[in-house]
Amino acid sequence: MRAPIVAVYSLKGGVGKTTLAVNLAWAAAALSGRRTLLWDLDGQAAATWLLGHDAGGEQAEAAIRKELDPAKLVVPTAVAGLELLPADASLRDLDVIFRDLDKKKRLARMAETLSDRRDLIVIDCPPGLTDTTEQVLRAADLVIVPVIPSPLAQRALAAVAEHVKGRKAFDAPLLPVFSMVDRRRSLHRDAIAAQPDWPVIPMASAFEAMSDRRAPLGTFAGRRTPGVQAVAQVWNRVEQALVKWWPE
Ligand SMILES: Nc1ncnc2c1ncn2[C@@H]1O[C@H](COP(=O)(O)OP(=O)(O)OP(=O)(O)O)[C@@H](O)[C@H]1O
Ligand SMILES: [Mg+2]
Repeated sequence: MRAPIVAVYSLKGGVGKTTLAVNLAWAAAALSGRRTLLWDLDGQAAATWLLGHDAGGEQAEAAIRKELDPAKLVVPTAVAGLELLPADASLRDLDVIFRDLDKKKRLARMAETLSDRRDLIVIDCPPGLTDTTEQVLRAADLVIVPVIPSPLAQRALAAVAEHVKGRKAFDAPLLPVFSMVDRRRSLHRDAIAAQPDWPVIPMASAFEAMSDRRAPLGTFAGRRTPGVQAVAQVWNRVEQALVKWWPE
């Protein structure tokens, strides 16, 4: 059976997708012992950077084009049980690549070949609603959408929900997660009160420190810090959503 795919996705840029993807992948491996692959699908290669890998070469595109086995590009990380399929600059035109290929299930098929001896694949997606998104939404079993509590971000979420609604190929549930929350702001408090079921990731400088440390938050911050606790709570929700994949 292939491993479940959790996509961290949003139409909007800069909402905390990469930060959350890296931290959830850490939580899966470090807190639950799941053999996890973080698949960086964004040509900015931010997740690749945060996991301490230096993106060199231009090979990621060749894997999408099936000129290269993606499994050969996978590298270990400093976190036990967490591996990385790095991005590099060749993914800058990923939308064009997918459009040219015209293979709707290419990403899903690649995920199958990457599933061997792994329990979970976490995909860090580029922003936008593009051919890449279509591929990801088709392949995903759960789509996590970070939402900064603002009217614009909530509209972006509504646009995605509208896009997937009623389309059989996109049957993965959406899990919105409030991102960069500042509870001193009434706008944020009101948004959270309106959606009490959505998990919350607070705004915290510890998350920004990840790009200096080049490591997931949980590797350098204590388990009881608010940031790590919030990550663990989101991970908990993800695990609940994926129970059917991991029967005890
Ligand atoms: N909870 C948080 N608290 C404080 N800063 C955060 C938090 N989450 C992310 N950031 C910071 O916000 C910036 C954007 O985060 P990130 O790169 O994760 O967003 P993204 O949605 O992946 O962006 P892009 O659309 O460019 O891929 C980064 O500088 C990151 O360190
Ligand atoms: Mg990103």
